[in-house]
Amino acid sequence: MELPPRPKLFDFHGVSMTNYFTDNWDNVQNFQARPDDILIATYPKAGTTWVSYILDLLYFGQTAPECQRPIFEKVPFLELLIPIYPPGVEVLDNLTTSPRLIKTHLPVQLLPKSFWEQNCRIVYVARNAKDNAVSYFHFDRMNQAQPEPGDWNNFLQRFMDGKMVFGSWYDHVTGWWEKKQSHSKILYLFYEDMVEVSRILMLCFAHICSRAMKKNSMANYSTDKVMDFKISPFMRKGKVGDWKNHFTVAQSEQFDDDYKKKMKNTQLQLRTTI
Ligand code: A3P
Repeated sequence: MELPPRPKLFDFHGVSMTNYFTDNWDNVQNFQARPDDILIATYPKAGTTWVSYILDLLYFGQTAPECQRPIFEKVPFLELLIPIYPPGVEVLDNLTTSPRLIKTHLPVQLLPKSFWEQNCRIVYVARNAKDNAVSYFHFDRMNQAQPEPGDWNNFLQRFMDGKMVFGSWYDHVTGWWEKKQSHSKILYLFYEDMVEVSRILMLCFAHICSRAMKKNSMANYSTDKVMDFKISPFMRKGKVGDWKNHFTVAQSEQFDDDYKKKMKNTQLQLRTTI
């Protein structure tokens, strides 16, 4: 089945979204979480697949039959409803593994309430805004299910304005950060820390480094039909500081000024270099 033309952004409860993540809204909001579910929550391009892959390895190991399936089948995407795939909620309802590993990009205020009622464990990953924006730009270039990215300068402005799928990066990372202060089941991780730690662990666990994951067809999304790897691979560089190859000095200064204003009320701090 062919995908329709690229979707358009619209405002949804104060968050920019496309219909691929809102068309199944009632079923998403009524989703029944189980107490042992583990939710992986991120702003897009913050390292979702990486954490999914590590948790899948930890819980199910490499030899389990499930390992022969792509990561996006093993860790279903809760709110996804895209014509060529079964709805995320349906895949999750039929998942027999325990615990279920569940992916979401929803901002904290839109998460279905059963996750809070069941007191599920939640792993949130945040990535610094500049690298996150660059990664998102390349993702939107290669993914036919995302809105047209336009040129980098316009994309960056839209990122600063919060006009991205799943809304404002600033609201997303700070919203989950505030929730973590009163909710002990949220483990708040930083992509930059993971890159540092993986450098140390690489000697023993080479398969979790970006180079190995890039080659692994079960982890690298190469079987996902909406992505065009000729434009850009899903596992692009996996680096901290790649933003320096994209931001001009003027863009970086403007971004930093705006960042200070937007983040002035939070204690949350992210590193743009390591
Ligand atoms: P880049 O585009 O900067 O390379 P998500 O899974 O949330 O869509 O995030 C994708 C980003 O995480 C990509 O960033 C990808 O390369 C990076 N990534 C995935 N696996 C990684 C790993 N093992 N080590 C470092 N980065 C990784």
